[in-house]
Amino acid sequence: MPIMWRSFMPNLPVNSVHIRIDGNDVAVRPGISVAAALLTEGYRSWRTTRGQQQPRGIFCGIGACFDCLVILNGQPNVRACMTTVEPGDEIATQEGTGHV
Ligand code: FES
Repeated sequence: MPIMWRSFMPNLPVNSVHIRIDGNDVAVRPGISVAAALLTEGYRSWRTTRGQQQPRGIFCGIGACFDCLVILNGQPNVRACMTTVEPGDEIATQEGTGHV
């Protein structure tokens, strides 16, 4: 079973990793991807495209499309589907290139 879907399985053991998403404290299951954490918290899109600010979230889920880019611990353009959450991670939704 892909690791990102474990968070949707209610009968698996519950423990948690504490992270922040857009400044909000969130507890998620250890070992899930950043994309799974975002989906679990109800996000369906978490970045916008550079040109037309179109919403994007997870698409391929295997690191190929780069639709799932997010700002992780201040670093923009991190693929959410390819990155595992770590305790204390600061995840932020990204607009355009993510550079200020
Ligand atoms: S969803 Fe395609 S690279 Fe992450």
